[in-house]
Amino acid sequence: MSNDQSLREQAYQAIEKYEGVVRQDPYRQCFHLSPPVGLLNDPNGWIQWKGIYHLYFQWMPFHTGHGAKFWGHYSSRDLVNWTLEPIALTPSEWYDKNGCYSGSAITDQGKLKVFYTGNVKDENGNRETYQCSAESDNGVDFVKNGVEIYLPKGYTAHFRDPKVWKHEDHWYMVVGAQSADHYGCVVLFESADTKEWVFRGNLSHSTREEFGYLGYMWECPDFFSLDGEEVLIFSPQGVEADGIDYNNLYQTGYVIGELDYRQAEYKHGRFVELDRGFEFYAPQTTCDDRGRRLLVGWLGGPDHNEKSQPTHDYHWIHSMTIPRELRLEKGKLIQKPVEELSELRVKQWYDEQIVKSGVYEIERVSEVHIEGESLEGFELTLFSYMQLIYDQDTELLTLKRPDFAGGNLESRSCRLPQGLKQLQLFIDRSSVEIFINGGEEVFTSRMFADPEEQRLELKTSNSTSMNVQAWSLREDAIHI
Ligand code: FRU
Repeated sequence: MSNDQSLREQAYQAIEKYEGVVRQDPYRQCFHLSPPVGLLNDPNGWIQWKGIYHLYFQWMPFHTGHGAKFWGHYSSRDLVNWTLEPIALTPSEWYDKNGCYSGSAITDQGKLKVFYTGNVKDENGNRETYQCSAESDNGVDFVKNGVEIYLPKGYTAHFRDPKVWKHEDHWYMVVGAQSADHYGCVVLFESADTKEWVFRGNLSHSTREEFGYLGYMWECPDFFSLDGEEVLIFSPQGVEADGIDYNNLYQTGYVIGELDYRQAEYKHGRFVELDRGFEFYAPQTTCDDRGRRLLVGWLGGPDHNEKSQPTHDYHWIHSMTIPRELRLEKGKLIQKPVEELSELRVKQWYDEQIVKSGVYEIERVSEVHIEGESLEGFELTLFSYMQLIYDQDTELLTLKRPDFAGGNLESRSCRLPQGLKQLQLFIDRSSVEIFINGGEEVFTSRMFADPEEQRLELKTSNSTSMNVQAWSLREDAIHI
């Protein structure tokens, strides 16, 4: 049996062994993609091809920690119903034996081609990194091509996560990297045929004057044009917390600018965090057949203590965010849940006008909309576990929850200079995504409230009315 076959068999055996336990978890997600068993992290190879959306993902089937990653695979025709597909990549070869790390997909000459990082630890534990590719005729079965790019001079082996796109008649790749003197950067390559890649230098790096200093390593870059600008999303590590900013262990954000492809020069503005919640990292985007720029992120984050995750005892941890459509408005990325998600709605429970306060019993898997002219002194308490509070004097909207380990309150905030007018919440069994003012800000977080709790409490300090709508959502959208 080949190494690839044996790894596949072991992974399928792990699913067989633990899927019963996973299903019993009251925190098991209903409409958020999660690993069948084990650990899921970054979205990979996100693409719509021949009408079908493919979302591959970083996967450790054997336990709820990191290690030699596989590429798992979900597919969907409509961004609502998803099916688990056979394993796409296993860490079976000398150049990826310690992990088929993150990467992206393109279509070229009738095939789906994925680029990923082969992660290798040599016998002394030193890291090696190879940018590899694999091809598929059907999006399900892949043939590996081996190494396409070796580590260029001037960088450490923290060099990974290739994202490829086409511009005019050439292909371009960004890779997340660390310079030899330990600064985070994004490196650009160019190719005429997706096989021979030419190194074009840094696209941006953490000591540019726009940043001051933005960390020692940048992971998971993504580059695309949107509404007439060119956006670079990346996830820097090593950025110090600064007031309400950069409060997670590692960050994710973007810059907006203009790339001169000929000179490989990217002029851009400041770094802006993409999400204000506790768990959001390493997102990836794609442009679908309708021309929408769609983003999916890891609804998790690097954490040095995976065991503190309440689902650990049920043999799975982490999820993906719902798919979101990106737009650029007034120099800012706006994220909206894709409109297809309204297909998840089963029953509308509330559509009410209230003044000052209200308490609702909502289903544990629901969507809630709250709207008002100006929601001053707004307070929302979800399942007696999480609170979202708006203070119009400081203009701060703050989300609070008990931490996983000891129950100490922790908080994340964003500034809303235009006030709070609208909230849209997507609530699953153990997560919530809160879209503020039509996607101007988003809080993405896990939520481990008492599974029996159903209370949603709302308050404002002024007497403008709020409109509240709530729907229960389908619990059977993901097929494993
Ligand atoms: C980000 C990341 C990537 C890497 C992958 C490994 O979460 O560290 O840089 O490719 O995870 O699973």
